Amino acid sequence: MKFADATTADFPNFENKPLNPNLCEPRKINFQFNNIPKLWLNNNSALTHFFNAMNLFLPAFEGFMVRVMRNQLPRIQNTELEAPIRGFIKQEATHGQTHQKYNKILEAQGYKFKTALKIADFFFTEVLEKYLSPKMCLALIAGFENMTTIISYIVLKSNMLVTANPTMRSLWEWHAAEEIEHSGLAFKFLNYVDNRYRIRILGGLLGTVMVIGAIVVGMALLIMQDQSLTNQKTFHDLRKFLFTEYKFLPLTLKHLTPYFKLEFNPKSEDLYQYGEKVFLNI
Ligand SMILES: [Fe+2]
Ligand SMILES: [Fe+2]
Repeated sequence: MKFADATTADFPNFENKPLNPNLCEPRKINFQFNNIPKLWLNNNSALTHFFNAMNLFLPAFEGFMVRVMRNQLPRIQNTELEAPIRGFIKQEATHGQTHQKYNKILEAQGYKFKTALKIADFFFTEVLEKYLSPKMCLALIAGFENMTTIISYIVLKSNMLVTANPTMRSLWEWHAAEEIEHSGLAFKFLNYVDNRYRIRILGGLLGTVMVIGAIVVGMALLIMQDQSLTNQKTFHDLRKFLFTEYKFLPLTLKHLTPYFKLEFNPKSEDLYQYGEKVFLNI
């Protein structure tokens, strides 16, 4: 099912509609992935494959979120959460479809990852959706979303994509900005349905491990196929990404810890400026 593809291209890659966290309507998009170089981010294998790794698994993660949240919608019917959560679901469906489209480009570039994606799909549909309760699935989604908010914030604040191929820069900035727009909503959904601390913590832990695990597996898979694993430059770029220039690891840990405190409440308002920067072209 298609949600927000544009029929006519009156904008380059996505519609510059201002942030509206009360509705979270998906923007029309028009991504054409033509002539994307293999190392599309400044010829940097670590950074390119950080984003490519997320691209691999996002359709599986986002498909899971869409199915679970759609099934749980009756629980928030006629509440103030209903409209933004409906928007959230449409945004995630559009993200998943777009990243699936880019996975075809990665395949055409010669990368092999079909088995890894099959395992991921099996894990979501045949394990998590069958054996976890719907509430636990919501807690897991709140954990994923906490991670995607942190990653989006780090990426947008650091201008990590400024030297990227323009289409790929647009793809990831659009996705990160919509993540910021709907940030905190999965937490509110969970809290409305079940506000026990232990379910949030369990979902948060499992969700964090799964997001980090997918990124690590995806990066290893792609970097190995580039045969750049033993390359000095790759190690140098990885170190810059994780510890020195972008400080991805310490920043992620710093922003992750508040989620596990009893009194945690997402402060999405503080982040909206980073999403607005993308959609208002500032
Ligand atoms: Fe998303
Ligand atoms: Fe999201």
